[in-house]
Amino acid sequence: MTTLTPHPVRPAPDGAAPLAGRWSGHVPAARVGRADPLGLDPLMARLPGLNRDGDVRAIMGGLTAVVPALEALPGMRTWEVLAAVRDLGMLVASLVRHGLTTADVPPEVETALASSVARTGMVPRETILHYGVWNPADAGRRRTFTGDPSEYALIDCSAAATGPLETAARGLSALVEHGVEPGEQRFETTCLTAARELEHAAAYVRMEHTGLDPVFFTRHLRPYFDPFTVHGVSYHAPAAAHLPLYAVDQAVWAADDTRHPELAELRTDLAAYGLPAWTACHEGLRGEDSLLTRTVRALGSSHVPVTTMVGARALLTTLKAMVAFRGRHRRLVRAAYTDEQRQSQIGSGGVGQDVIDELLSVTRDCAALAGEAIRSAPRPAAAARDHAERRPA
Ligand code: HEM
Repeated sequence: MTTLTPHPVRPAPDGAAPLAGRWSGHVPAARVGRADPLGLDPLMARLPGLNRDGDVRAIMGGLTAVVPALEALPGMRTWEVLAAVRDLGMLVASLVRHGLTTADVPPEVETALASSVARTGMVPRETILHYGVWNPADAGRRRTFTGDPSEYALIDCSAAATGPLETAARGLSALVEHGVEPGEQRFETTCLTAARELEHAAAYVRMEHTGLDPVFFTRHLRPYFDPFTVHGVSYHAPAAAHLPLYAVDQAVWAADDTRHPELAELRTDLAAYGLPAWTACHEGLRGEDSLLTRTVRALGSSHVPVTTMVGARALLTTLKAMVAFRGRHRRLVRAAYTDEQRQSQIGSGGVGQDVIDELLSVTRDCAALAGEAIRSAPRPAAAARDHAERRPA
């Protein structure tokens, strides 16, 4: 389904990537945003104009001029490395959009991107985090390819959805990891929190209030989001698909799912592009009983305590919030890709729009399964009476 090559992240020389175990809230986003370690502010400010004019010579000139500054990379702080990768990646992506490849850029730039892996544990190019939450907040320093308000909207929406999706993924995966059962209070509260966060994230895939313009995306922005290679390995461009909704799937229904191997492959591909903590929270759950499996099992017993029913309903609320997010997002995708383009176009995350339909349909099936298990479970009151009747006198 995807064309992605395996994720070759290596640990840092001291054995641990500096970002290992850190969630996006722990990485100082404002610091990354403020950082300009390569002195690229003036070039990045001109980038939209240079892209509009297809001025490859000026972009290449700016990239070549930065080469001496790359020597400082090994001594940079982590947030400076992240800022350097953000700017270098967007410059290379601009050149790729105008028909060049990484073979055309100064080799020192490719080496710098490759060496960032050991410092960050992330892929050696800009990701949705670099483009979104680590993009400078100051409008005058915003990094964009086009400078268009629609691109600002895409950056702002992706950035704003990052925290909520991460909070949902983090809480739900901890439930799986710690073996929490539906009857436990923590199961209910975490599922309800996740549902609220997912509803919050869904506000950022609404066309009506966000300024997201799917047609602008396909016509003008998408060409800047092609894969490029670093030392022979192809890496996808920043895509909101790399935000950790895949990790929410993994915890809620997918950790032990064997019926959709193509979606398992997709999740693994998407997980390669996030923070190491996102990847770990996805990978660590593989083969564990998902929250849905635990819930259906608990509801299938002859005695269903009230607390289990409460937990099951909370999981159903989470699943409904996932369906709502995906339903709303699908409207965006449908508007972005016309019927003629439907077959030929793939998204910047590297997959076709069919996957959007499949993910929505599988999530709906899971919600239906949870709903049916709730409906057919013995009512807690009846179960309690049944239990009392069977008790020896
Ligand atoms: C103009 C705006 C957008 C368009 C045209 C668009 C299009 C797409 C496409 C084509 C995919 C398939 C995967 C791929 O990229 O190859 C996708 C996936 C995805 N997108 Fe978007 N997207 C947009 C905005 C957003 C925003 C703002 C968010 C987050 C708030 C988002 C979240 C996701 C997620 C989580 C997926 C993974 C699929 C899933 O889990 O259901 N997208 N998008």
